[in-house]
Amino acid sequence: MTYQPSDTRYSSISYRRTGRSGLLLPAISLGLWYNFGGIDPLENSRAMLRRAFDLGITHFDLANNYGPPPGSAEETFGRIFAQDFKPYRDELIISSKAGYLMWPGPYGEWGSRKYLVASIDQSLKRMGLDYVDIFYSHRPDPHTPLEETLAALDFIVRSGRALYVGISTYSPQQTRQAAAILRQLGTPCLIHQPRYNMFDRWIEPELLQTLAEEGIGCICFSPLDQGILSDKYLQEVPADSRAAKLDNRFHWGDRVTPERVAQVRQLNAIAQARGQSLAQMAIAWVLRHPGMSSALIGASKVGQIEEAVAALDHLSFDEAELAQIDAIVA
Ligand SMILES: NC(=O)c1ccc[n+]([C@@H]2O[C@H](COP(=O)([O-])OP(=O)(O)OC[C@H]3O[C@@H](n4cnc5c(N)ncnc54)[C@H](OP(=O)(O)O)[C@@H]3O)[C@@H](O)[C@H]2O)c1
Repeated sequence: MTYQPSDTRYSSISYRRTGRSGLLLPAISLGLWYNFGGIDPLENSRAMLRRAFDLGITHFDLANNYGPPPGSAEETFGRIFAQDFKPYRDELIISSKAGYLMWPGPYGEWGSRKYLVASIDQSLKRMGLDYVDIFYSHRPDPHTPLEETLAALDFIVRSGRALYVGISTYSPQQTRQAAAILRQLGTPCLIHQPRYNMFDRWIEPELLQTLAEEGIGCICFSPLDQGILSDKYLQEVPADSRAAKLDNRFHWGDRVTPERVAQVRQLNAIAQARGQSLAQMAIAWVLRHPGMSSALIGASKVGQIEEAVAALDHLSFDEAELAQIDAIVA
């Protein structure tokens, strides 16, 4: 059936400014790292994208290697885009990235101009897009001069393949260097995409301040620590969870240790006292920083997206709640 987006799609979510730019991002964005690959049921992927947009989630985040297999999340998105979202292209912020291994040989990963330009062209083809809104250097490359990587991003914008550029998982020092080089090139760095959640607070001591000073926005990934910051692992590892699905391949489930579950149980009690789920509190917690442009979530079910958006009903924390959380996760 032809998709008709909800008329009320701009009434449930708030939009936040991305650094010192003109771009507003939804407080919650949806990433397609998992559950949108070639191995996943297309109808579930489609249902999640439709529901997200109906709730005002205008930003979908991809990368060349998302799947599995690598590239297939962009293909899935391209199929759904062509059928459902094409008339709404100007209402969408679509991002992609390059940095991790994508094809064999010396030109299939890291940060050379050769790899980045080839990769964006492949991504655009897979998604059936003329341009992406944001294109990222997915990770810093210790062997390629930063100037080359960033000049490639500048070229990608000037050649019409992307509107804005971003960096992901760059250290505070690399971020300052990248900001200076990009400013000089005339293509300011729009946004940084770091991992951030209650169990991984590396951005707090320095990166957030660096981003504020440089006028760069922040969109943090894995705010739920891939689902661990929810009530799903409190009893056992459910068969339909990411931990169960990935365990054989990556020993991922090893991260759900009894000690971690004990911490999650305590956090869950605080969330309940606030009248929200732990997943919702985890999202509210990352959004408490004024410079946080968006919380970049993943989802395997439509209901998880609805639950995330409802987190926006209660974003504030009092000092006692924050101190309790600090004591648990310290
Ligand atoms: N730049 C980078 O290097 C980088 C790296 C990683 C991710 N990312 C981006 O960040 C996005 C989000 O990452 P993420 O998927 O790790 O984020 P996340 O939001 O921390 O975890 C999402 C997973 O948590 C579970 N979940 C979500 N809502 C839930 C709820 N209400 N109750 C219980 N479980 C829930 C689901 O897994 P189940 O399958 O268990 O249901 C879901 O797939 C990615 O899609 C990608 O766009 C970027």
